[in-house]
Amino acid sequence: MRAALLEKNQQPLAIVDDLDVQDPGPGEVLVKVSHCGICHSDLTIVDMPGGGQLPCVLGHEAAGTVEEIGTGVTLLANGDRVMLTPIPTCGACYYCSRNQPSLCVGGQNFMTGLRADGTSPLSRDGELVYHGFGLGGWGEYSVVDERRAVKIDGDTPLEIACVVGCAIQTGVGAVLNTAQVEEGATVLVTGLGGIGISIVQGARLASAARIIVSDPVAERRDYAANFGATDILDPNEDDVVAKTIELTGGVGVDYAFDGAGHEALIADCIAATRMGGTVTMVGAAMGKLEIPIPALFLTQEKKLQGCLLGSCNGQRDIPRFLALWRKGALDLESMITHRHPVADINVGLDDMRAVRGLRHVLEF
Ligand SMILES: NC(=O)c1ccc[n+]([C@@H]2O[C@H](COP(=O)([O-])OP(=O)(O)OC[C@H]3O[C@@H](n4cnc5c(N)ncnc54)[C@H](O)[C@@H]3O)[C@@H](O)[C@H]2O)c1
Ligand SMILES: [Zn+2]
Ligand SMILES: [Zn+2]
Repeated sequence: MRAALLEKNQQPLAIVDDLDVQDPGPGEVLVKVSHCGICHSDLTIVDMPGGGQLPCVLGHEAAGTVEEIGTGVTLLANGDRVMLTPIPTCGACYYCSRNQPSLCVGGQNFMTGLRADGTSPLSRDGELVYHGFGLGGWGEYSVVDERRAVKIDGDTPLEIACVVGCAIQTGVGAVLNTAQVEEGATVLVTGLGGIGISIVQGARLASAARIIVSDPVAERRDYAANFGATDILDPNEDDVVAKTIELTGGVGVDYAFDGAGHEALIADCIAATRMGGTVTMVGAAMGKLEIPIPALFLTQEKKLQGCLLGSCNGQRDIPRFLALWRKGALDLESMITHRHPVADINVGLDDMRAVRGLRHVLEF
C-alpha cells in the first residue's frame, strides 16, 4: 500500500508504495482511508530529533470505509463508513470503568499502534512499521481494533468529517467533557490552530458569555472571530493577562485553555483565571515543563488539569459531534482551508510550520 512514511534521519517524508498491510486479526477491521488531517502532534513527531519510534506512518485524524472485518467483529460490516479515533474505548479497562474513556488502556497502543503481543499490522520488507497515534492515517489502509473505527451515517462527507477525529474531539471535548464549561461562563483560549479553534467552537456551543482569544498570527485571529470569539487579542500588542482580567470585570476568566502547548502560556492562563477557576492544558508541550505556580494558587482554589483527546469516548462523541454539525451547531467546513494529495504531505507540513491556513487535509 501507499503511505507517507517517516523514516529515521529522513526529511522530508517519503511517499512509498510498498508497505505490507496484514489482514485484520480477531476483533480488527481493515479500513481504506479516504482523508486524513494534519495535526500539530504529527508535526511534533516529524520534527523531533530522532523522531520517536520509527519507521512510522503518522496521521490520526482520518475517515474511510471498512473493506474487511476480522473474526468476532460485531460493531462493523464491510462497506461501513467510519471515523477513526486515536483512542479506542474498550469499555472494560480500569479507566473505562471509571468513565475516563480517553485514558483507555485496552486495545492497540495509543502511540505506536502495536497490539498487546507487540506486533504491528504494518511492515516493509519484513521490517516492523509503527502506526503513529494508533492508526496511521497517512497510509492508504489502516488495520485497527473495531472500537477504534466508529460507524457514521453513510452519507457523511468524509473530506469534512475527518477533522472530528482529532481537532473537534480534542477541542470541543476539552470544553464539554474535560472542563464542563457552563452557560454564561467566561473563557480564554491561547493558540488558535485546529485545536484552539475547536475550543472556541466548544465554548460557543456551551453558550459561554465571553470567549477571549489570543494568537500572534493575524489570519488565525480572523478565523477565531468567524468561529464566535468575542474578544480578540494579539500577544505581540496586548498584555493578555491584564486585558483578560479587565474584560472580565477585574476577576479573570472562569475557564482558560491553552491550545498551543507553551509553558509561558500555561502560566498566563493560570494568572488570567479567576479564584476558583480552571485551567485546562490542551496544547502538548514537550519535555519537562517549568510552570511557576504562585503560592496564592492554593488559597485561591485554582485548578490546573490535563486533557487528552477532549476526554472523549469516540463511540459516544463522534456521532454526537457529527449530529451537532448536521444541525448547524458545529462548523466543520470552515476548519478545512487546504486539501492536498497525499504526495504533497510535505507541503502541508511546511504550511503548518509557517502557520498558514487552518486545518490541512490529505486525500487518497
Ligand atoms: N491534548 C490533546 O489530546 C491534543 C490533541 C491534539 C493536538 N494537541 C496539541 O495541541 C497543540 C495545537 O495543535 P494544532 O494542530 O492546533 O496546532 P497549530 O500549529 O495549528 O496551532 C498552534 C497555534 O498556536 C499559536 N501560538 C504560538 N505562540 C503563541 C502565543 N505566544 N500565544 C498564543 N498563541 C500562540 C500559533 O500561532 C498557532 O496558531 C499542539 O501542541 C498539539 O500537539 C493536543
Ligand atoms: Zn491531533
Ligand atoms: Zn478501556
